[in-house]
Amino acid sequence: MSSDLRPLANKRILLGVTGGIAAYKSADLARRLRDAGAEVRVVMTRAATEFITPLTMQAVSGNPVHLHLLDPQTEAGMGHIELARWADAVLVAPASAGFMAKVAHGLADDLLGALCLATAAPLALAPAMNRLMWSNPATQDNRRVLESRGVRLFGPAEGEQACGEVGPGRMLEPHALVEMTAGLFAGGCLSGLNIVITAGPTREAIDPVRFISNRSSGKMGYAIAVAAQEAGATVTLISGPVVLPVPPRLKRVNVESAVQMYEAVLANVRDCDIFIGAAAVADYHPVSRAAHKIKKGQNEMTLVLERSPDILASVAALPEAPYTVGFAAETENLEVHARAKLAAKDVDMVAANWVGGPDTGFESDENALLLIWEGGGAELPCAPKDRLARELIAVIAERYHAKNKAQTS
Ligand SMILES: Cc1cc2nc3c(=O)[nH]c(=O)nc-3n(C[C@H](O)[C@H](O)[C@H](O)COP(=O)(O)O)c2cc1C
Repeated sequence: MSSDLRPLANKRILLGVTGGIAAYKSADLARRLRDAGAEVRVVMTRAATEFITPLTMQAVSGNPVHLHLLDPQTEAGMGHIELARWADAVLVAPASAGFMAKVAHGLADDLLGALCLATAAPLALAPAMNRLMWSNPATQDNRRVLESRGVRLFGPAEGEQACGEVGPGRMLEPHALVEMTAGLFAGGCLSGLNIVITAGPTREAIDPVRFISNRSSGKMGYAIAVAAQEAGATVTLISGPVVLPVPPRLKRVNVESAVQMYEAVLANVRDCDIFIGAAAVADYHPVSRAAHKIKKGQNEMTLVLERSPDILASVAALPEAPYTVGFAAETENLEVHARAKLAAKDVDMVAANWVGGPDTGFESDENALLLIWEGGGAELPCAPKDRLARELIAVIAERYHAKNKAQTS
């Protein structure tokens, strides 16, 4: 596979097919997207089904084809909003003149039109139509409106048309569309990379109703996951119990205890390029969990704790360890503790922050970070966690690429 197509690995492409002769090429397009590692779901307009059968598109995409908007059964399963959230990118190929008009005017009277309005993912249309339909001022106005709103137009190409005429309006060939779709994900500083991020607290059970935990809200780890995804990475988020919504389009693995988080990390870290441990993992957990609720008794009780597995050190010690970033939450001597952690765990970077104060750290919406790596460091001043996460991702990307360059030269 060409390295230009690498950004498509594990990406979810929603392929829209509308009613035009070029729909026969959509089957080849779906197959090529899958060959490049993308997961493909197909949505067809009613007119499209006159040109190519849903059965064909189902077979080549490997998924059931979505056809209807106002179907209670469809909505009960993967309805239009779920599909819109599912997609990492929406590609409509071929896009008819009528469909361009529909999107330009925000009509949502069929499944594909509704999806294009409801998605936050990049939207690309591959126009395919007779040359006069393409050059018609109405279509050209629609093209301008679409482009001004950030919709990407792939093509059309010039050449011989199915109607026998020659001119602009041919759909681009599937291989070119696959490359351009990959280009939607390239350019980000983490494009094509797999990242595993841990977030949130862990809960260590004492008995069926009680646990030891900490004040981590998961907000920082979740913001990093979103920022990494925006930067083009494929993100797996391993999360302790939090009350945050699942960011769209990323894989979340829910865990509760430190041991579960350790196991989930080791199961997911194999092909990952960067590991960011932002979770507040319990260092100790009860040696045993009582089978029943512990009853009130003597004035004092002793709880025996044992060390939890060290997730960060274990990842950093793997034979082909990813670039490993660990968080250090401290209430005193921030830099000293952070440097000690960098050395003790042999990680590539430590992101240290103050916790315990009223304004930054665990439960707050703002934070500040001190970043330390071998031979260098950076300070990221107090900012909302989403902005801070983007700045952190930019530094991690720079350090990751610098390390790779040093290793290959
Ligand atoms: C044989 C045939 C070929 C067609 N080819 C195209 C085409 O290539 N491009 C286009 O924009 N419309 C084409 N049309 C017209 C569309 O099918 C028609 O406008 C339809 O309503 C589009 O619906 P949709 O955009 O919901 O899929 C063609 C119609 C027929 C009968």
